[in-house]
Amino acid sequence: MANEINPGRVTIKVLEQMKNNGEKISMLTAYDYSFAKIIDQAGIDIILVGDSASNVMAGHETTLPITLDQMVYHASSVIRAVKRALVVVDLPFGTYQSDSQEALKSAIRIMKESGAHAVKLEGGYQAKDSIERIIQAGIPVMGHLGLTPQSIYKFGTYEVRAKNKKEADTLLNDALMLEEVGCFSVLLEKIPNALSKKVSSKLTVPIIGIGAGSDVDGQVLVLQDMLGMNKDFSPRFLRRYLDMNTLICEAVKKYSKDIKEGNFPNKEEQY
Ligand code: KIV
Repeated sequence: MANEINPGRVTIKVLEQMKNNGEKISMLTAYDYSFAKIIDQAGIDIILVGDSASNVMAGHETTLPITLDQMVYHASSVIRAVKRALVVVDLPFGTYQSDSQEALKSAIRIMKESGAHAVKLEGGYQAKDSIERIIQAGIPVMGHLGLTPQSIYKFGTYEVRAKNKKEADTLLNDALMLEEVGCFSVLLEKIPNALSKKVSSKLTVPIIGIGAGSDVDGQVLVLQDMLGMNKDFSPRFLRRYLDMNTLICEAVKKYSKDIKEGNFPNKEEQY
């Protein structure tokens, strides 16, 4: 897809054109330089520095503990690796909920200190003021509706959201509001296919889904999950493209064995 301002780079304009042309958008998370470099070279359209770094990188049970400083660190590492993809960074829990001024300050820190291209934050009407203020400052915002992991303790489960009509109507209204205030895209997490299809057809901005079915404009997965690094996490929506857990274990076992048996390093591997 051509991009006149920044040849070869994915921008929010390019994403808009992709939706208009019916070209699906690919998105993955990354939290570090090495993986970001590989997935950018492989041609992924959007890289999300998700607050799932809290789970995936730090081993926390939820996304709540990760801090703004830590997100800036992860985002800067990713940005240094990326030449083509649009890099979106999550605003972590507690950095935008108090008021819109705090939200803007947090978004500015992410953009200034990491060099990211956009931010993402969770919520509908309750986050409207913050989203408007960030967008007014010229920072592109991706909305996030459906399962919003930062509110896990309000719901108590990671089950599918918006299954009944009332919740589905609220989600649709939230999505329409997000488009109206200027979000360049909306991410829908773990909601019924019929609802995400409806949202995608009513909104002109690209809709990215995770566990939201195929009738949306693009898909996102957590990189480590789709690479099969974690055997304990198997939601229905997850397709594993590799069994990296087994591959890494086998490589490490072989390496250990070689050391113990005196086979590493060999003559060619020393000075
Ligand atoms: O933090 C994250 O990884 C997310 C997912 C929806 C991909 O927000």
